[in-house]
Amino acid sequence: MPAANRPFIPFARPTIDEDMVSAVADTLRSLWITTGPQVQAFEKALSVMHNDRPTRVFTSATAALEVALLTIGVGPGDEVIMPAQTFFSCANAIMQTGATPVFVDVDPLTRNMDLQQAKAAITKRTKVLMPTHFAGHPMDMDALYQLAHENNLRVIEDAALAIGSRWQNQLIGSFGDIVSFSFHPNKNITTVEGGALTFASEDEAKVSEAFRFHGIKRLADGTRDVTVLGGKFNLSDVNARLGLLQLARLDEFIEKRHLLVERYFDRLQGSSLTLPFRGDKGHSWNFFAPLLPLDQLSIDRKALMDELQRHGIGTGISYEAVHLTSLYRQRGFREGDFPHAEAIGRSTLTLPLFPTLSLDEVDYVCDTLLQLLHHYKK
Ligand SMILES: Cc1ncc(COP(=O)(O)O)c(C=O)c1O
Repeated sequence: MPAANRPFIPFARPTIDEDMVSAVADTLRSLWITTGPQVQAFEKALSVMHNDRPTRVFTSATAALEVALLTIGVGPGDEVIMPAQTFFSCANAIMQTGATPVFVDVDPLTRNMDLQQAKAAITKRTKVLMPTHFAGHPMDMDALYQLAHENNLRVIEDAALAIGSRWQNQLIGSFGDIVSFSFHPNKNITTVEGGALTFASEDEAKVSEAFRFHGIKRLADGTRDVTVLGGKFNLSDVNARLGLLQLARLDEFIEKRHLLVERYFDRLQGSSLTLPFRGDKGHSWNFFAPLLPLDQLSIDRKALMDELQRHGIGTGISYEAVHLTSLYRQRGFREGDFPHAEAIGRSTLTLPLFPTLSLDEVDYVCDTLLQLLHHYKK
């Protein structure tokens, strides 16, 4: 079908059904709209799903990561090891605490943090390993936690893309140290904006509550004290109500993501694209991002994205290498520091993938992309 007859295909789109719309409307009508019973119910549902681990929700995963760091006492003078190929918010959350992000390169195949490089980056100041489960493909959890234990480090898993992902059949977030999820509309489930932490320790979950809400502690005499420098990161009941209904459909959403990704692999195999690491059933496929063969093309990525846009196809970049953004260049980072992260950052292209996408639309995306690659071949 020509593009003119097709609705535009964005690269990500949340699934919001009528039950969700009316449940949110009910919450609004209840007039209890900020943190309350729906947040409690959402935290309970997330906890039950994740092996009854203590769970708290936040206004975003960025806030959750920052609170996780503060909760375990990370601050000025501390170093946190993270991949150079992930979303900027990870580094920014570390910087907000006064600690230093220590970038390491990623494995070019899985695009997850390279643990050999992480090991080499450990110093006396290192407090935390903060890897991202890239695109929803879990890190090697045995190797990650072995490295952490051997070096007495805490782990904060950035599972923004990985709610519903499994490592050896165990849900990410149901074991390990502190695990952070995102509920941004591009993620596997959404609360519009939102995030969550699952903890190994109830005490730490309680500390995170203070950092989530102004550092406030309620006293026996009915007054409030401020005990730590907290922020304002509490999720509203309106968001949590949506989250509860989204969570109920998570398995179905991931099943559909798998079906669509299989089609992408079938259609794009053998092309000049470098396809993402396939992983196993535990991959939740938050996004599908092949690498473009830019050295074989007479068009750059931006112009190709514009061409796709003209054909009614939205694409994204997940992600630019963090250390090459101005903020981190000012701190001395340069091209050549992390070659795999940089090569991925230069050539990655996120294709449409979301549960309401059809196989026919995947075919259209693939046909169009393959035609353009052929047309612009040097
Ligand atoms: C890998 C990764 N980590 C963390 C985040 C932060 O999530 P949020 O938007 O909920 O703050 C994102 C958001 O896109 C992300 O992609």
